[in-house]
Amino acid sequence: MPLETEKPTDTSIFYTLKSSDRKIFIGFECENKDDEEFVKDDIFKYRDLQLGVTYLLKPSEKVLSFVTLATGSIDLKDLKLDLPVSERPTKMPAILIGRLATTKDQYRRGHGSKMIALAVKLALEMSEKIGARVLLVHARNDPKIIAFYVKNGFEPCYSQRVGRDVIPMYLDLLA
Ligand SMILES: CC(C)(COP(=O)(O)OP(=O)(O)OC[C@H]1O[C@@H](n2cnc3c(N)ncnc32)[C@H](O)[C@@H]1OP(=O)(O)O)[C@@H](O)C(=O)NCCC(=O)NCCS
Repeated sequence: MPLETEKPTDTSIFYTLKSSDRKIFIGFECENKDDEEFVKDDIFKYRDLQLGVTYLLKPSEKVLSFVTLATGSIDLKDLKLDLPVSERPTKMPAILIGRLATTKDQYRRGHGSKMIALAVKLALEMSEKIGARVLLVHARNDPKIIAFYVKNGFEPCYSQRVGRDVIPMYLDLLA
């Protein structure tokens, strides 16, 4: 998959968001207020403050889907992982999917899954240089969202509880 960092007017499929791309989300329809506020402003601040880097699926003028990545960690006890080491870390190093959304009129066409595939590819590349064992997401506790992540190879962490707003889910990068 080519990763382009050229101007947003080019025809690249994947594009790394820059802080100068203020108008790029015009026409992007969010499902919830949280994401709406994020793409309006915070997405650029996250970039500037090194809190998260966003990748866009943008085959033409319109952004179809985006994913924001950062580093994170998860308690080892929450994962079904056998670690044959004598010093077991309490926290497992992770690459975190901070946000992921597809514009509303483009749901269920595989765009979100493409962003997961990109996140996996980047996480594998990063983990060659700096240890990261899992791709982690705090998924909204909604059957459609959980189904989306399960379809893309994630499983819920042990710490999931009925009634929680979010369910941590992970994909083992070595599996
Ligand atoms: C989750 C999200 C990114 C999926 O994007 P997408 O481009 O539709 O993803 P894909 O087309 O690759 O996968 C769709 C899968 O998600 C699940 N899904 C999504 N919407 C669904 C719906 N309305 N009903 C049932 N399943 C649904 C299904 O598993 C579906 O697979 P299927 O179409 O083969 O049945 C999108 O729904 C979204 O932006 N939601 C709002 C933001 C959000 O909640 N993000 C996740 C936060 S953790």
